[in-house]
Amino acid sequence: MRPSMQFFDIHTHILPGVDDGARDMGESLVIMKEAAEAGVKGVVLTPHFPYGGMDLDRVAGIFKELQEAVAARNIGITISLGAEIRFSHDLPALLSDRRLTINGMGKHALIELPPYDIPMYARDVFFRLMTTGITPVWCHPERCDEVIRDYTAVKEFVDRGVLVQINAGSLLGEYGRKVKGAVKSLVKNNLAHILASDTHRAGSIKDRLPEAFHCIEKLAGHHTAVELSFSNPSKLAS
Ligand SMILES: [Fe+2]
Repeated sequence: MRPSMQFFDIHTHILPGVDDGARDMGESLVIMKEAAEAGVKGVVLTPHFPYGGMDLDRVAGIFKELQEAVAARNIGITISLGAEIRFSHDLPALLSDRRLTINGMGKHALIELPPYDIPMYARDVFFRLMTTGITPVWCHPERCDEVIRDYTAVKEFVDRGVLVQINAGSLLGEYGRKVKGAVKSLVKNNLAHILASDTHRAGSIKDRLPEAFHCIEKLAGHHTAVELSFSNPSKLAS
């Protein structure tokens, strides 16, 4: 246990049997216990949306089961429901169902853009979404080829109020040298707001989040590491 660490992990695939993340309740609970040991206080479950045949009501039911199991075992983590939403031009209409936003609050939505180029209409869609009161959280832009070529592509979005979530694994080199270079540039140039695990399996939170925290500390100082790992995500997760 690291008592000084108070992570809030807003991008995870721990909801059992919904996507390519945790396969059953047993695996979900193992990941939750590991998260607690790493100092995680709050977790947002963000299965890939669309869910592939599964509907929002069923996902909400599975979430409730996990919530009860976490409470019954006194794991000491607050969980909330969200989604990692695949980008499309009709996001504003889709998100009129606020259950897809983080914790159903209708304030933040985790959006995944394609891994190659940023779509021409992404700016327009993001800004239209903001006019409905929802702030887009662009997940792991450092894994996008266009951002790898030129990280400043993110700046226009950040300047307009889009939040940027980076993956712990990117900082630790798990997606390769180029992604690591891109994420370091984002952190050093104040173009990242939130650190998250994007975990799919056991073993990917316990050491990685604390190690990623220390990477940010080295790149941009202790205050920035605290903001990205604790302060900023806690505002979305609670
Ligand atoms: Fe994800």
